[in-house]
Amino acid sequence: MDRIDGFSAMRRARWAALLGVSLAGALLHPIARAEPNRVSFPDLAQQVHYATVKRGNVTEHISTTREALEAIQKKQPIPDGTQFVLADYRDGAIFRYFVMEKGAGWGADFEERRRTGDWQFQWFWPNRQINLKENTARCMACHQSQKEQNYLFTAPRLAAFRGTPIE
Ligand code: HEC
Repeated sequence: MDRIDGFSAMRRARWAALLGVSLAGALLHPIARAEPNRVSFPDLAQQVHYATVKRGNVTEHISTTREALEAIQKKQPIPDGTQFVLADYRDGAIFRYFVMEKGAGWGADFEERRRTGDWQFQWFWPNRQINLKENTARCMACHQSQKEQNYLFTAPRLAAFRGTPIE
């Protein structure tokens, strides 16, 4: 077998393997790249806006429930069922919602090294559909760095919040 043939055989094998994997994926998960999980679209009426982050034309309104705010301020565990919402506005119009939600035993849906306690993450478009192209492992990997603070980046602002959203 000369080099060219060897190379194309390798490519064929790789394509066959890729095709096999994606067919298997499509059979197991009808929407292969989407990652539906237990996070539901937030009840926005229950959310208290406690922090604002601005970067260029992006404005993020970060919120959670009153119960969660109280628990955090009293240094108590965050109740199951809590949602945190990062509403991402572009030039003043809602662009997407990033949501974290916690439920009893939800961590067990993932292998240990991917886990973020019992929190799961999701990206919703304003029409409540999830972003089919997102792999929420990415969300979890970054938020893992905040393990000591309930996986939250805005823990200091949560503690300092007294009714006016903190920038
Ligand atoms: C590269 C790191 C990174 C990734 C990836 C990431 N986040 Fe975050 N997230 C942050 C930071 C930093 C903040 C604090 C707000 C800010 O600075 O924009 C934050 C804040 C949040 C908050 C508000 C609560 C908190 O932690 O303070 C939610 C909810 C959230 N992210 C959800 C998500 C979701 C859902 C995804 C994936 C679709 C995601 N994040 C991906 C870094 C990340």
